[in-house]
Amino acid sequence: MTEFSGNRNFKISNQKVVESCSSNIALIKYWGKYEGQIPANPSISFTLNHCKTNTEMEFFAAEEFSVQTYLAGNEEVKFAEKIEKYFKSIEVYLPWILKGKYIIKTENTFPHSSGIASSASGFGAIAKCLMSLDHNFNVDNQQATTDTQKTSFLARLGSGSACRSLYNGLVVWGKTEEVAESSNLFAVPYPNEEIHPVFKKFNDWVLLVHEGEKTVSSTVGHALMDDNAYAERRFEEAHENFKILKEILKTGDMKRFITFVEHEALTLHAMMMMSNPAYILMKSGTLEIINNIWEFRKETGLNIFFTLDAGANVHVLFPENEESDSIKSFIKEELLPSTQNGKMVMDEMSF
Ligand code: DP6
Repeated sequence: MTEFSGNRNFKISNQKVVESCSSNIALIKYWGKYEGQIPANPSISFTLNHCKTNTEMEFFAAEEFSVQTYLAGNEEVKFAEKIEKYFKSIEVYLPWILKGKYIIKTENTFPHSSGIASSASGFGAIAKCLMSLDHNFNVDNQQATTDTQKTSFLARLGSGSACRSLYNGLVVWGKTEEVAESSNLFAVPYPNEEIHPVFKKFNDWVLLVHEGEKTVSSTVGHALMDDNAYAERRFEEAHENFKILKEILKTGDMKRFITFVEHEALTLHAMMMMSNPAYILMKSGTLEIINNIWEFRKETGLNIFFTLDAGANVHVLFPENEESDSIKSFIKEELLPSTQNGKMVMDEMSF
């Protein structure tokens, strides 16, 4: 399917562009996809304020195509290969893209190898750089009309979750009847007027339970949903969950929100355990933290809860209010010891 076509004669000159993009954490998870990076179900995430990728892209017009990448000053050949593959896949939209040499220098504001997903912020920043290089990037249908939608479209083709990082706040990717503007091709912001004020300032403290490479990548994980006997039910559930979440977001029902978000996180990991071959990305520290949160919540009634990415780290969520100080002390004293090296990243989302 060709959603955009560039002007075939369009050329860009030598340029250097610099862009930054935030990471995000999903509340309804994207897990499973179809050909052409189309999500098997709609997802919604919060964009983080501090976990970001800063990227400088230098383009030198040339007949030969090459990409060199540096991560925090060190050359990264694997990342360059990934980018080359990505650029080749989007040539249909940016016809000039293979006509030059690229030097891409990228840096994350969160620790390298922390297990915090860098593909969302990484591809978000790359897509923004490409948009800066080519403002004339054309649309030949009416689906993606704004510059941000077009950037999100390009980011999606690099990494699905990246397309949600182009906006602040709550962001939806994937067609759902519950959000009028939603699309499988790019993300859109969740309507602000539908969000109760209690959800507008949240902390997300990421406990680094395990640093380093995951045993199963997200790409492999998504593919394992193809033959997962429970996948169809999961995709249906994600659709149903949008209806439920919409109500929660509107009414500000924090207790229901907590149960909902944790259920989504555990479902993601349950899908991994029910794949063939089965795999488990949680570590003992992950389970210790979850059980500790549950116990503390039961004892105190405080609104502290968790979500998980496709990895062992735990995102501890809690609204910013007069109760947050006791939650913060609890995390530092009781949860932090379950991490590999006593490390966490204190982020937040606000809009
Ligand atoms: C568990 O976006 O990393 O974080 O599209 O193959 O790059 P690719 O996968 P990716 O998958 C993220 C999955 C998730 C849930 C989510 O962010 O919705």
